[in-house]
Amino acid sequence: MNQEPVLRLEPALLEQLLRARCVLVLTGSGMSAESGIPTFREAQTGLWSRYRPEELATPEAFRKNPSRVWQWYEERRRTVNAAEPHAGHHALVQIAKWLDSLHIVTQNVDGLHQAAGSPGVIELHGNINRSKCSVTHRPISREWLVDQEGTPPPSPYVRHGLARPDVVWFGEVLPQEAIDRATAIAGRSDFCFSIGTTSLVHPAAGLPVLAQQNGARLVEINPVETPLSAQADQCLRGTAAATLMAIRDQLRAALGD
Ligand code: OAD
Repeated sequence: MNQEPVLRLEPALLEQLLRARCVLVLTGSGMSAESGIPTFREAQTGLWSRYRPEELATPEAFRKNPSRVWQWYEERRRTVNAAEPHAGHHALVQIAKWLDSLHIVTQNVDGLHQAAGSPGVIELHGNINRSKCSVTHRPISREWLVDQEGTPPPSPYVRHGLARPDVVWFGEVLPQEAIDRATAIAGRSDFCFSIGTTSLVHPAAGLPVLAQQNGARLVEINPVETPLSAQADQCLRGTAAATLMAIRDQLRAALGD
C-alpha cells in the first residue's frame, strides 16, 4: 500500500524555525515544476535529458550558433511567461510574514517568487526576461529587442555584440552581488530550507552546507533523495506546493493565527 509522505516539521525544528533570526530559502527548478516549468536533470522530463546543455547553455554555443540558442531561450521564455506561481510560492510569502527575516535565494530564472509577491529575491542565475550584450554584458531593454525572425538583435553598445539572455551559462561566473549577498545570508542564517534542487550545481549547492556549518538547521524539501539529504536535519519528501502549504498550516496552528 502506498503511504502518503509525512509533511510535518519535527516539533524541535518547528520551534527552531519560529525562533530563527535569519532563514535562508534556496530554491531550484523543482520549485517551479508545479507551475509547468520543466526541471533540468529529471529523467524524461528534465531539459537536459532532451537537450545537450553544451549546445545551448554555454558562451561557446552562442558564438557558434546564436540563432539556435536565442530561439531556444525564446521558447523557454514563452513557457515561463505563460506560467503562474503555485500554492507553494504563495505559502512561502505567508510564511515569510510570520518569521523574523526570511531570504529567498533562487537558481530559477523565471521570476515566479517575485510574481507571487516575495520581496528581495536574490537571483543567482539571472532572469530569462532580461537580455544583455554578449560582449559588454550591459543590460539591453525589451524595447530594443525588435523581432529579428529568430536571430538575436544586435547590441546597441558594440558593433560585434548581440543581445543574449541575461542568464548564467555553464562556464560563466555568477553575478557577483547576488552570490556575495547569498553567501552573507548563508553565513548568518540559523535555519535553511533547500527546496527542489538536486544540489549539484555550485556555488548555489554550497549555500545550505555553509549555513549548516555556521549552525543553521537544514530542512530539505524534495520528493526524492539528493546528495544533500544525508546531512539534512529533516527531509520532507513531498512536492514544493504540498510541503510549503503543510508548513504554513503548521506555523499558523503554532502561532494561533
Ligand atoms: P535539477 O533539475 O537538477 O533538480 C530539480 C530537483 O527538483 C530534483 O531533485 C527533483 O527531484 C526536484 N523536484 C521535481 N519536482 C519537484 C516538486 N514538485 N517539488 C519539489 N521538488 C521537485 O534542477 P536544479 O537543481 O535547479 O543552471 O538545477 C540547478 C541548475 O542546473 C539550474 O539553475 C540550471 C541547471 O543547469 C543553469 O542554467 C546555470
